[in-house]
Amino acid sequence: MDKIVSLCKRRGFVFPASEIYGGIANTYDYGHYGVLLKREVIDAWWRSMLVARDDIVALDSAIIQHPRTWEASGHLAGFTDPLVDCRTCGLRFRADHLDVSACGRRPSKHPGQTSDCDLTEARAFNLMFQTTIGPVAEEGATVFLRPETAQGIFLDFKTVLGFARRKPPFGIAQVGKSFRNEITPGNFIFRTLEFEQMEMEFFVPPDEAEHWYEHWLRARMDWYSELGLRGDHLRLRAHDADELSHYSCATSDVEYLFPIGWSELEGVANRGDFDLTQHAAHAGEKLEYFDQGSGQRYVPHVIEPAAGVGRSVLAFLCDAYDEDEIGGELRTVLRLHPRLAPVKVAVLPLLRKDGHPEAARALHAALKAAAIQSEYDEGGAIGRRYRRQDEIGTPWAATVDHQTLQDGTVTLRDRDTLEQERIAAADLPGELATRLQAPWRSPKP
Ligand code: GAP
Repeated sequence: MDKIVSLCKRRGFVFPASEIYGGIANTYDYGHYGVLLKREVIDAWWRSMLVARDDIVALDSAIIQHPRTWEASGHLAGFTDPLVDCRTCGLRFRADHLDVSACGRRPSKHPGQTSDCDLTEARAFNLMFQTTIGPVAEEGATVFLRPETAQGIFLDFKTVLGFARRKPPFGIAQVGKSFRNEITPGNFIFRTLEFEQMEMEFFVPPDEAEHWYEHWLRARMDWYSELGLRGDHLRLRAHDADELSHYSCATSDVEYLFPIGWSELEGVANRGDFDLTQHAAHAGEKLEYFDQGSGQRYVPHVIEPAAGVGRSVLAFLCDAYDEDEIGGELRTVLRLHPRLAPVKVAVLPLLRKDGHPEAARALHAALKAAAIQSEYDEGGAIGRRYRRQDEIGTPWAATVDHQTLQDGTVTLRDRDTLEQERIAAADLPGELATRLQAPWRSPKP
């Protein structure tokens, strides 16, 4: 993990937020390449939900919803972590994670086993961030930053049903920020205070819930595999009954073998009719579906694949990180799926003279016009420029040289095989567009 954190900072993918003030706990900023990578992950998710299927519609609901939302959803009463404070060092720990300290600096011990830590009894600590609407706190209504995007979908179920011209089984998908006041041992972007979720609530006739639960388990595993995560680093783990969230009839986690061990990447839950029934009761509004064909009226059951953007980014980075040796020199390379790579192709003039920059810039412009993320780089020796692109995971590099000026071809170098071939510069946009659509497997063992 240290190597990934350091690469992310060195190349400006992800780095601590508020760094000039010493940072702020579990909060990170995404730089240029991080934003590009994150966007590709989100795009891939939307493609799988909206482009590849006809039974899902999109939504972008508000972060701050009516406060009663969280009463109905159970978050106000039950979305808590058990916390203990140390009377000696003043640090706060999760009582269920006492093997690691909250600040990540000092080891903690179980209550009563050490003189280092003098721990209080565990208290339930609600994870929702609270704020107020209105200029004066005392007069304002208390509201919460959403801890999951899902509830906005349930609140809009009836409205969406009205305009989407869909009937169960159908889904509503949303991507957006959620917020949780997490006390964590600081595993980089694995668990942060604010994070983006990619959630889809799939509304189904009650007797089809089991079928769709299985369907989404498979579909979500396939999504990660197709984007290059290695099969032996990916698994499904069903929750035991005592692990289930208050709303869930069944949940399985898609787990990835992170450097911190097997951990949740995404949760797929069968939420039954819990949410629609709760909101119907609290809002006094019927949230059901009337099937005119069969004359049946029912509250749909919900299957929910809920993924985290940052956590997916971390998994893709971990899976892609590699080191090898070229000509006796150590190379760091991100073997990202080309579709996820922040930059698809680097355009490199061999020399900063003799017409190379002009020809390279023309090729760069043609690639951009074809909507291919291209990066022009003329600074430094060619080997160093390749290394820089390898570190950010650029799958191809096109080098413009003397021959380009004679016959219009460039050298196309492959990040993984290191093979170089000559290809007509004019064909490059089309060739790369084709390669970007092709299936891809990680060359890592
Ligand atoms: N609506 C269901 C739900 O929110 P969850 O398992 O709590 O379920 C879903 O969250 C996903 O969101 C997780 O699998 C994870 O990828 C991501 N996630 C949750 N909390 C997070 C946090 N504090 N930081 C980063 N990602 C988080």
